[in-house]
Amino acid sequence: MQGPPLFPESASTMAPRVDALYFFLLGVSVFFGLLIAGLIVYFAIRYHRRTPEQLGARIHGAMSLEIGWTVAPLMLTLVIFVWGASVYFAMAHPPEETLNIYVVGKQWMWKFQHLDGQREINELHVPVGRAVKLITTSEDVIHDFFVPAFRIKADVIPGRYVNIWFQVTKPGRYRLFCAEYCGTRHSGMIGEVIAMEPSEYQAWLGGGAAEGSLASAGAKLFQDLACNTCHRPDAQGRGPVLEGLFGKTVTLQGGATVTADEAYIRESILQPAARVTSGFQPIMPTFQGLVTEEQLLELVEYIKSLQALPQVQTR
Ligand code: CUA
Repeated sequence: MQGPPLFPESASTMAPRVDALYFFLLGVSVFFGLLIAGLIVYFAIRYHRRTPEQLGARIHGAMSLEIGWTVAPLMLTLVIFVWGASVYFAMAHPPEETLNIYVVGKQWMWKFQHLDGQREINELHVPVGRAVKLITTSEDVIHDFFVPAFRIKADVIPGRYVNIWFQVTKPGRYRLFCAEYCGTRHSGMIGEVIAMEPSEYQAWLGGGAAEGSLASAGAKLFQDLACNTCHRPDAQGRGPVLEGLFGKTVTLQGGATVTADEAYIRESILQPAARVTSGFQPIMPTFQGLVTEEQLLELVEYIKSLQALPQVQTR
């Protein structure tokens, strides 16, 4: 946009939708603001007291007026509600096929882990034209991932995985902010999202894959922590089989069920007794304090990679 920088650049598929709603709200506010201010001035002049003895007319209700100014705002706010909800749901539900990147917020930096193993700090490389899903968590306090050009902003919360998705529409460098006060250097918790053409992105990915994929790091950790002594693929172990687990519905002791998503796997590593799979004993020790958030992501990614049968994956 030309002129004074009142508005951030628009560089994601979501940006025009957010802006359209924003401008609609702005338009409605300006319209009613001017209407009310104008009527105040008009009525003040038109109906001002002309002689000291003048009395106002006695008016007892006007049904059509009352209905009008009840129904009109109701309709208008319903339009805003439905419109806002549709944009919200579109933001909250990533498409089936996404490029997944893990994000860990920490006082005071953003750490990114690509599935192929690349790690970045305060810089995130993504391809243009592809839906990207960020699976975010925090190592300490609540941070907030905010890229104005993409119109995305979400709290990054310790102990939870929050998904954020976007699809960039044009290459460029876009500012990334932390938008939640998180300590003395909160204002320094900034970075850049670098959107590249898919071919350039592939080249970039190929340039830094020295450390091996996230899942392979997780596999190594799985061995190092001796998880594999209980979680065995042959159903003879003391812990549940992890092959094919991700995304499935797990029946717990007591009959409740849970979807084996990132959050459940994370919880099962840190607080194994919290939700035990039906048919197993709560004998697993906690790994709280033994694994970092990044290592947890590696383990989660390893368990995700253990798909028994080829199937549609969300990655
Ligand atoms: Cu992190 Cu503010």
